Amino acid sequence: MRRMRQKMRMCAAMIAVLALLVGMSGCGKEFEVDENGQDASGKDDSLIVVGVSQVGSESVWRTANTASIQRVFSKENGYLLIFDNARQKQENQIKAIQSYISQQVDYIVFSPIVEDGWDTVLNEAKDAGIPVILMDRKVKVSDESLYTTCVGSNFEKEGKDAGRWLAKYLEQEGRQDEIVNIVVLQGTTGATSTYGRTEGFNQIVKTQKNWEILEQTDADFTTAKGKEEMRRMLKEYKDIDVLVSQNDDMTFGAIEAIEEVGKKPGEDIIIVSFDGVMSALEMVKAGKINVDLECNPEQGVHVEKVIRMLENGESVEKSYYVPEKVFTRKNVDNFMDDRTY
Ligand code: AHR
Repeated sequence: MRRMRQKMRMCAAMIAVLALLVGMSGCGKEFEVDENGQDASGKDDSLIVVGVSQVGSESVWRTANTASIQRVFSKENGYLLIFDNARQKQENQIKAIQSYISQQVDYIVFSPIVEDGWDTVLNEAKDAGIPVILMDRKVKVSDESLYTTCVGSNFEKEGKDAGRWLAKYLEQEGRQDEIVNIVVLQGTTGATSTYGRTEGFNQIVKTQKNWEILEQTDADFTTAKGKEEMRRMLKEYKDIDVLVSQNDDMTFGAIEAIEEVGKKPGEDIIIVSFDGVMSALEMVKAGKINVDLECNPEQGVHVEKVIRMLENGESVEKSYYVPEKVFTRKNVDNFMDDRTY
């Protein structure tokens, strides 16, 4: 299938060059153009063409995730990467995928902002015979064959680990019989990471009769919204014991809001965060964040590995999870030297 698409791309490029030659004969050296009339000098048809649609750049994690893709899909590694940043809009992701289909790329990789609303465009990719690899987040579709595989985090496990850690910590502090008031800053509504972390954490909440969730609110994975929502909740609820913040960026904003009202994050309010980016690990070390559940953004290598398997005609699993850790003040020093994001 890939060979066929390569041939089709080459034919289209040759026709375009011929058309240009006819029009330009006698005018000097002709330009090389591809099927879209773009400069094609130096284009290598042995490269595997990968179209990537990224959600946006809402978080430090996301920037690291993008970098991991750009690093691995290089010409040196045999790839031509076409990258699009959807700036947080599903319609932009759909447009990017449609443009990858019309460019006849070899693989489409994308991180769906939300789970719903992909059936039509994924059917178009399927009809064009282009394998789709989901990265980071998943889709809810009527037909699972609309995507080949997905590579990402086990968000439900992250949520459960957060709940388990909290139960253990409260016990260590001798607070297991106290009423524990919890507020939750959730990520983007409808995103796999939001669903999974919420579901996993709530499973543990159900086992704890004295934990009370005061509110779960959408703060869209951003620092600005995290601060705004935390400020509001601090006014609304006088006695917040725990903040569960579904990513580090929202946590940074929430910590600012907590400090503004003269409270100590990590002491007056227990802070549970997700991602584990460097500046958050520094806060774990400083005791402002009590636990950080890693969400591993280094997914490029794993996506590339799956593509290599497909290129070799090997069968792939429907889903792959990246390895992840739990960071606390006790172990965080061991991981800070290697962090690049
Ligand atoms: O889907 C992964 C989440 O999206 C990360 O936790 C968050 O930081 C990102 O924006």
